[in-house]
Amino acid sequence: MDKIVILTGAGISAESGLGTFRGAGGLWENQRIEDVATPEGFARDPQMVIDFYNMRRGKHREVQPNAAHLALAHLQASYPGEVVIVTQNVDRLHERGGASAVIHMHGVLDALLCNACGHRWGWPFERRLDLATACPRCADAPTRPDVVWFGEMPYHMEEIEAHLTGCDLFVAIGTSGQVYPAAGFVRAADQAGADTLEINLEASAVRSDFARAIIGPASQTVPAWVDALLRHRV
Ligand code: APR
Repeated sequence: MDKIVILTGAGISAESGLGTFRGAGGLWENQRIEDVATPEGFARDPQMVIDFYNMRRGKHREVQPNAAHLALAHLQASYPGEVVIVTQNVDRLHERGGASAVIHMHGVLDALLCNACGHRWGWPFERRLDLATACPRCADAPTRPDVVWFGEMPYHMEEIEAHLTGCDLFVAIGTSGQVYPAAGFVRAADQAGADTLEINLEASAVRSDFARAIIGPASQTVPAWVDALLRHRV
């Protein structure tokens, strides 16, 4: 049976009300990456970083998975082959939409990481993070959100690379193709002989690396694509 690897970005969660990073109104229009999404920024001003992530965590309490998240979970449950979801997103909307074994290559917002001992533990969206929040294992503080910052290595890369070289179809949904290594996944899949599809509102920076594209809002294009795939194996 065929194996499908799906990479998602902020665009799949946009219609749930979570902002994207780039483009009109993007997160990086109002906040400097170097201030809030780098280890240096956290060392320089941990309060600014904690405030930024508390703001983002607060938004995650109110949002719901949209039809695109639900469609991918349906695909995982109904497709005869393996469907692997790799996400750059730090939200939990894939899981709340019913998806399983989601690979979070940039970490998640409902977990914390201790810079001193490397311990990580769950921290529900309802709980705020502050400078006094200490590691339960070594008591170091402040602790940081368990998200991958610029200049750091994404998580699960060996596992992801193995999926890419063994898949028959690679699909990227709602990602601008501007951040590596994720933006290079399509080439790895293509070189391994996989078919490649981009689903986005507009062409991404790596559109030319894809064999084909479906343009439109994910809440409409993803369910339609899943239905067609399950009906006709397109
Ligand atoms: N449906 C489909 N695609 C959409 C929608 C939508 N409703 N809305 C926006 N998009 C697309 C945009 O066209 C764009 O290509 O989603 C993409 C969002 O791009 P980015 O904001 O750059 O988000 P992403 O690609 O996930 O960023 C990658 O960069 O800042 C880091 O760690 C951060 O994981 C993030 C990484």
